Amino acid sequence: MSTVIKNGTVVTADLTYTADVRIENGMIAEIGPDLKGDEVLDATGCYVMPGGIDPHTHLEMPFMGTYSSDDFESGTRAALAGGTTMVVDFALPNPGESLLDALKRWDNKSTRANCDYSFHMAVTWWGEQVFNEMKTVVEERGINTFKHFMAYKGALMVNDDELYASFQRLSELGGIAMVHAENGDVVAELSAKLLAEGNTGPEAHAYSRPPQVEGEATNRAIMIADMAGVPLYVVHTSCEESHEAIRRARQLGKRVWGEPLIQHLTLDESEYFNKDWDHAARRVMSPPFRNKQHQESLWNGLQAGSLSVVATDHCAFTTEQKRYGVGDFTKIPNGTGGLEDRMPMLWTHGVETGRLTPNEFVAVTSTNIAKILNCYPKKGAVLVGADADLVVWDPEKTKTISAGSQQSSIDYNVFEGKEVKGLPRYTLTRGKVAVHDGEIRTEEGHGKFVARAANTTVNKALSTWKELTAPRPVERSGIPATGV
Ligand code: URP
Ligand code: ZN
Ligand code: ZN
Ligand code: ZN
Repeated sequence: MSTVIKNGTVVTADLTYTADVRIENGMIAEIGPDLKGDEVLDATGCYVMPGGIDPHTHLEMPFMGTYSSDDFESGTRAALAGGTTMVVDFALPNPGESLLDALKRWDNKSTRANCDYSFHMAVTWWGEQVFNEMKTVVEERGINTFKHFMAYKGALMVNDDELYASFQRLSELGGIAMVHAENGDVVAELSAKLLAEGNTGPEAHAYSRPPQVEGEATNRAIMIADMAGVPLYVVHTSCEESHEAIRRARQLGKRVWGEPLIQHLTLDESEYFNKDWDHAARRVMSPPFRNKQHQESLWNGLQAGSLSVVATDHCAFTTEQKRYGVGDFTKIPNGTGGLEDRMPMLWTHGVETGRLTPNEFVAVTSTNIAKILNCYPKKGAVLVGADADLVVWDPEKTKTISAGSQQSSIDYNVFEGKEVKGLPRYTLTRGKVAVHDGEIRTEEGHGKFVARAANTTVNKALSTWKELTAPRPVERSGIPATGV
């Protein structure tokens, strides 16, 4: 049984050309003119692109006294509906918990996935057990990325000494460090002060996490990564201060990547000033939405290449869950959804406006992250032998985003009412057609774990450079006698 995508234009991160694509056994078997197959998908007027990869999701995540409401089933269904064919979720150990036990919990949740997925491991505490298990996670579980929270004091946060120890361990193991960069100590102080002054509403969430706290933490993480000799990936880069730190580090030759979210690119802080408490609370996430200047900085970064990947940080809570924080903004579960909307919103606000080329769109939604995470060209490519994770993208198709017709299980959508132009006609996950012209044909459990080896080419280049430039004792001809 083979499938052929006919009459489309293949768009990859570096090429645009007319060709049919033939798929067999879940992989791309042939690319060229006039191909034949058992099943034909008509791509007339469409772009045939690598399916999106969202490297930042929290599905069924235990957080702030509850669980995020989209699980691996509804979350990956939403992903496929929007043209995303792989998600990477964060396995979070409880304080003192074994990394391997946390991974078992994530293994259990992810059996329901409709599309392929991988995990990042979070380092939420530090000790000999974590140090030892990191090697097993890398070598036996195929996970090369480790996330560190510099915020959420008293919960997920780790301190600088722990960051340095973990980053050094990652350098030895050939892994990649990731950070949620906000100064958690200052956020905790600002939050307490705001509450004491009667600032209890969702807008105070934004006041408690200004761009400066993100900029400082990003600079600190870059410095610690540099000292430890490890590549660094900064998740949810939301402001100029953080972007500036990443841009400067990259210009200095450091191996640092920044990841803006579609929410920060298209929604701004005015959402928190809405008179409707629910409206504002539904948009509470960390870092918060910023003003238009910060938004402009993120778009510029994508165009300039100083920011590399667009993600969602999909972490969906219902209105009922958000209301845990009525009277105290620090109790509003942090997180927003976006899995179904990332690709259409980025196409509409990026490609349709001329900020991004279609090839750049593919780069920032799929190919760049596949390379960073070391699963390219299995993922993120239209090449013979690659997984047939593809989206047939109709640039003329339009819709109005609405919670009423979304796949996510929550009762609202932060993009409600936004018009998008550019949507999937078909989405294929390893050759299986999961979205067929508006019809959802996902298959629970179809998704498989994607293992990712350590010691990427970037790790090798960085360790070579660090070795070459390491401090060395000066060879001296004579040493003065001591103790005279
Ligand atoms: O507010 C957010 N971003 N919630 C999810 C957890 C995280 O910080 O990424
Ligand atoms: Zn975060
Ligand atoms: Zn996150
Ligand atoms: Zn299947």
